[in-house]
Formats: sequence, structure tokens, C-alpha cells
Amino acid sequence: MHSIKNPSTQPVTEFPVFNNWSVVANGWYFAMPSSELKSLDVKAFQLCGQELVLFRGSDGRVSALDAYCPHMGTHLGKGKVIGNHLRCFFHHWKFDGKGDCVHIPCQKEIPERAKVPSYSVIEMYESIWIYPSANPSRELLDFQELTHESPKMITFGKSYERSCHHHVTMINGIDPQHLKTVHNLDIEMSVEINESERESCLDVTLNGKIGTGNSKEKLARFFLGDQYSYAMRYDHGNNGFLTLMRDVYFKTWKWPTLHMIFAYRPIEKGRILVQPIYITRKRSGVIGWIVSKFLLWLTKRAFYSLQGEDGEVYENMRFYPGALLAIDRPVAQYIQFVNKLKPSPWKLP
Ligand code: FES
Ligand SMILES: [Fe+2]
Repeated sequence: MHSIKNPSTQPVTEFPVFNNWSVVANGWYFAMPSSELKSLDVKAFQLCGQELVLFRGSDGRVSALDAYCPHMGTHLGKGKVIGNHLRCFFHHWKFDGKGDCVHIPCQKEIPERAKVPSYSVIEMYESIWIYPSANPSRELLDFQELTHESPKMITFGKSYERSCHHHVTMINGIDPQHLKTVHNLDIEMSVEINESERESCLDVTLNGKIGTGNSKEKLARFFLGDQYSYAMRYDHGNNGFLTLMRDVYFKTWKWPTLHMIFAYRPIEKGRILVQPIYITRKRSGVIGWIVSKFLLWLTKRAFYSLQGEDGEVYENMRFYPGALLAIDRPVAQYIQFVNKLKPSPWKLP
């Protein structure tokens, strides 16, 4: 499983956060599609090694608590949601969404220790996201081209596992060299990087010219013109917001942008789960619905073609940025960005 290979001939230095399995960094972690937690449902759920319960009250709000009752440790996933409270199966202590006990059947006074740790929850992109603290620094981000308010159409891709830290697999989107060597796209890239340390957000935009050599490039040039641009927005170190087809034209017609989120979460040391989410603006009318569906399909195709070309390289990689070049600047800056993230109290098994 997770062990350091070649320790004597190729030693590596551990980073404070980047590629470090001992740290679960703060961030919004994808839990499940919203549709999987109906009103008055409670679900036991493991997230980044933490045993949790999620429940949806009669007001529609989702709460996330640590899983074990503070009285005698019964798993609260066996409990029942009553109104906006979760009632423990065993002695019927009742907890609100902040984890405070609000009712004990056999006595009026509620002891101070009758409290379960709670976590912030947000519902966006038809999904439930959890932050490993009750006080997140901010909400989940949105794409630059879409706003929090605009209605969206969503499709979930099939989730998959990787035996590699998500900080490493997330580099794929901003590694300019491999576009030529692996994806066979001779794109001369210029890179723009904007970091907001306060917001724990890194925006990387890659702009370039599509080459004229091979048939793939010729086809790309015909449909997309000679310019190409895409953007990767990192929300903390565990969500990548990818925008494809930025400022791309077919003759004079501007292509709509394509959007997908790579939502990562570690399962245990050495294993992660990746959830792709495809997103587009919801357009009105029947034609609008067809266009939106087509763009979601196109986004999915783009994802599978890119993933098929290099996804598995990460399976047995022992990543270490030992000899980065000037062209690897986005990778170097991303590593610095991740190392500034704050560790959460959660630990992986
Ligand atoms: S163990 Fe939960 S109320 Fe007693
Ligand atoms: Fe790639």
C-alpha cells in the first residue's frame, strides 16, 4: 500500500501539505448528489476518514455531525430525523444541526458535554459539500464565467478511484509540457496565474496557438480557429474547476464555454475518489434544453478523451518535483499554493 519506494537512492522530502497523506487540508469536500438525501433522511457517511452522519430536516437544510452520540457512543446513523433534529436511537437524546443536544427524555437539564462536533454544509451544483470545520473561510467557489445566481444544468460523471494523492493528479490540468508529449497538441502556451491566498483560490489560464502539423491539429483549427484558451480554477487543494473553449470561434461564431468540476477526496492513505461533475448554463425553451444537453454531452466526451490519454500515469507515480523547468512554473506555483492551505482536524486511516 502506501510506502516510500527507493528510500536510500531516491529520497524525497515531505511537504507540509502538498502530497502529504498525514494532512487533510481544509476545503469543501464533495459528499454526494443532493438527490441522495431526501427530506427527513439520515445517512452514515465516511468523508476523508471521518465517520459522519448527514441529515436533512423538514426545512430542507442538510446538517453534518460526527457519527457517535456523546452519551454512550451509539452511531447516530441509526437515529431518526424529527423536524429539524436528529434523535439518537438508544435513549432518544435529540440534537440540532449544530450538534447541540436540545432534549433528553429523562431530565430537564442538559449537560454541557452533550454536544456532537458539527461541520459546515453547502448545497451547490445539485451536490452536498462538507467543510471540515463549523466555520469555513468562505463558500464554495463558482466558475468565473458562471455566477452563483445563474441556473445551471448538471450531469454527474462516474466516480473513480486512483492510487495517488489528489494534489498530484490535479496537476494534469496545468502541466503545459504534456499537452505536446501526451496529448499530441502543439500548443504554444502563455500562462497567466492569479493567486488569492486569502480566498484559497488559484486561477491558471493557458492561452495559445494551435499548431498546423498533424491531423488532430488541423481538425481543431478548422472548428476552433487558431487560438485556444482554457482555465483551471483551484478551490483549495481538492476541487478543480475546468473551463474549456474559452474565446474560441468557428469563423465568427463564438463557441460556448464548457465546464466541469473534478471533485477529489482522499479515502485512506494512498487512495482517493474522483467525482466528475459536468455543468452548463440552463437555457430556456425546448431548443435551449437541447443545446444545454448537447453541451453537457460534449463536456463529458472532452473529459473522457483527455482522461483516456494520460489518466493512468498517476497510478504508480511517486511524484516529487525534484527538477522543475521554467516551463513548469504553473506546477511550481500550484505546489506553493497548496502548501499554504490550513490542515483540518481530520486524519486519514
Ligand atoms: S447513546 Fe445516544 S442517547 Fe444514549
Ligand atoms: Fe492530460
